[in-house]
Amino acid sequence: MSESLVLVETRGRVGLLTLNRPKALNALNDALMDELGSALLAFEQDDGIGAIVITGSEKAFAAGADIGAMKDWSYMDVYRSDYITRNWETLKRVRKPVIAAVGGYALGGGCELAMMCDLLIAADSAKFGQPEIKLGVIPGAGGTQRLPRAVGKAKAMDLILTGRMMGAEEAERAGLVSRVVPAAKLLDEAIEVATVIASMSLASVMMAKESVNRAFEGSLNEGLLFERRVFHSLFGTEDQKEGMTAFVEKREARFKHR
Ligand code: CAA
Repeated sequence: MSESLVLVETRGRVGLLTLNRPKALNALNDALMDELGSALLAFEQDDGIGAIVITGSEKAFAAGADIGAMKDWSYMDVYRSDYITRNWETLKRVRKPVIAAVGGYALGGGCELAMMCDLLIAADSAKFGQPEIKLGVIPGAGGTQRLPRAVGKAKAMDLILTGRMMGAEEAERAGLVSRVVPAAKLLDEAIEVATVIASMSLASVMMAKESVNRAFEGSLNEGLLFERRVFHSLFGTEDQKEGMTAFVEKREARFKHR
């Protein structure tokens, strides 16, 4: 039997997915993206999981979509197969938080996959980039949309038009990643953050994620209204009562619905 392209483990209430095509620097082909999608949806359904971490190898989170697999495709091949949409957007269906733990290269589709996650933690070895311009194409999995929202137009244009790579510190300064840690500590740090998130009330975690995504994906007025409605609705949950009562009683909250 061939080895899994995505290794699936759990660490307490955290689901850990490791991209596993190390010899090809985790180049993202259809088979890998299908496995990733199935594993994500399984964690989404699993009541024992409160947060998910996606990581790669020390050398590469993922060096992009598989160039060898794509090189001979025609316009009709990619259009008819709905390349990217078909099996790349499963991540958007996941309502639990997903953390990208990025070490080494996160290029092209690898950078886009990381940006589809809810937060990025980078090893000091991480290198981000959208080098598609050098291949005669453009980013196709959200890079032209998510990168400018994450780092601003000027830096996004710089990266996308020149195809250059950006190191972890520059990525943190630009707002693409939330933390940079020594490479040896990357996974521990990501699991720790995920464990903290998974200890919170699942309803407020999922609604917070949904609300923050509105800031990214819609207008300010629509986002503010959505946030207010979600905030109000949380007063219908037991975990809100427990969270606020615990604060007033100066004790740790014991959330029922994690
Ligand atoms: N697709 C397919 N194979 C890839 C790959 C990719 N994106 N990236 C690396 N590999 C393979 C290499 O072909 C090589 O395989 P062999 O050992 O069989 O020759 C192996 O991984 C190791 O790569 P290198 O020998 O090139 O390693 P390096 O350390 O010299 O260079 C690198 C590393 C700078 C990341 C270089 O591999 C590279 O530039 N990769 C391509 C990056 C890229 O252009 N990504 C964008 C892809 S297009 C895309 O993603 C479209 C989209 O928006 C969805």
